[in-house]
Amino acid sequence: MAEHGTKSVFFVCLGNVCQSPIAEAVFRKLVNDENVSWRIDSAATSTYEVENPPDYRGQNCMRKPDILMNHLARQITKEDFATFDYILYMDKSNLRDLNRKSNQVKNCKSKIELLGSYDPQEKLIIEDPYYGNDSDLELVYQQCLRCCKAFLEKTH
Ligand SMILES: *[C@@H]1O[C@H](CO)[C@@H](O)[C@H](O)[C@H]1NC(C)=O
Ligand SMILES: *[C@@H]1O[C@H](CO)[C@@H](O)[C@H](O)[C@H]1NC(C)=O
Repeated sequence: MAEHGTKSVFFVCLGNVCQSPIAEAVFRKLVNDENVSWRIDSAATSTYEVENPPDYRGQNCMRKPDILMNHLARQITKEDFATFDYILYMDKSNLRDLNRKSNQVKNCKSKIELLGSYDPQEKLIIEDPYYGNDSDLELVYQQCLRCCKAFLEKTH
């Protein structure tokens, strides 16, 4: 259970193997470096990749900055909407899925926001790189890094 007053954030994408585990790992690294305590997790809107590790191309991107991704995909639950302060999503289809799910939750406490809305370079959508190449994953990493830094500064 989180300590009283600890902030919490939850990252969401379609499968929870490409963008959202990268965002989760990047944000965890940032808060660890700052010595601040957050509850952090990520999940999928879908069940497609449940129990699968992050996409290996994303894992490759994280090797150089030495960021550990230690996550197995899971689907978002009603409890997530009731317990996380922020749910940050990647694209518009995530929002449609989240809205459908949050409508079934009576006690949604989360602020549901586009992660890219924090990007100082104003690139709003963090595209699903599933069918892309290595440089698409690198782009996701760079976007997540910019957005997570800005989000942390804003909410710190
Ligand atoms: C975080 O803690 C470590 C170890 O105690 C310390 O070296 C570092 O300067 C701290 N960083 C910040 C940003 O406070
Ligand atoms: C990756 O795909 C993009 C188009 O989606 C292309 O512009 C780029 O050159 C490709 N990069 C590599 C390394 O293949």
